[in-house]
Amino acid sequence: MDKPTMFEPYQAAADIDIIPSYFPIPGLGIVPVNAFVLKAAQPVLVDTGLVPLSDEFMEKLSSVIDPADLHWLWLTHTDQDHIGSLWRVLEAAPKLRVITTYLGVGKMSLFKPLPMDRIYLLNPGQSIDVGARVLTAIKPPSYDAPETPGFYDPKTAAFFSSDCFGALMSEPADSAAGMGAENLQKGMISWATLDAPWLHTVDRTLFDKSLNRIRKLSAKLILSAHLPIALDMTEELIENLGAAPEAQPFVGPDQKALEAMLAEMTG
Ligand SMILES: [Fe+2]
Ligand SMILES: [Fe+2]
Repeated sequence: MDKPTMFEPYQAAADIDIIPSYFPIPGLGIVPVNAFVLKAAQPVLVDTGLVPLSDEFMEKLSSVIDPADLHWLWLTHTDQDHIGSLWRVLEAAPKLRVITTYLGVGKMSLFKPLPMDRIYLLNPGQSIDVGARVLTAIKPPSYDAPETPGFYDPKTAAFFSSDCFGALMSEPADSAAGMGAENLQKGMISWATLDAPWLHTVDRTLFDKSLNRIRKLSAKLILSAHLPIALDMTEELIENLGAAPEAQPFVGPDQKALEAMLAEMTG
């Protein structure tokens, strides 16, 4: 895969659709970039995909729901791989409000401010009723932006984890189980050390506490922005992430390595 690529949406659970894409990282493999549609009484879109795939994203979104029916956009954070179609979604869904945090609004205002009447501020620990189901915002154990809240949906027992529990991959897969245990572990540790280098400096006891908070949710389904769907694999994912602080820190290719890569690409 040599360019960002959109894949076909599919059902992650009875009322959750996943809109998957992949982004190649030269020399390291590919990383999934997922958005989700939670078909609650008040439908929730979770993140809006990659900037360069915006046209295709809007097309795939429309194939799973009429965007005008969306009530909420749960913006896990404001990185470019999560706000790719944010403004188009706001336009296509006139009644939609963006669930984010004060910091999320602040960071968007550095780029293009969100209209104040279209936001809904929710902090980790707080909940929101989206029509016969209550979603609770939860700070994931690993993240790359301070405004990040994931959330738990008790009805599907799904934890939407934002960047947490992501993995670098060598090829696309429909499920985390389909990657094989060893590839999953390696890929998750690579992603965690790359995306959250601060993990190497955390107090082990406090980090274990934050992993335990996720463990206690008893989530059946982990829906990460950067991992294929993971059903009944929560403990395995927690253990893989738990190994990241002691793993080899990520060091990117230097200029010499870049020139070697370019020479290889140009033959
Ligand atoms: Fe991120
Ligand atoms: Fe991300």
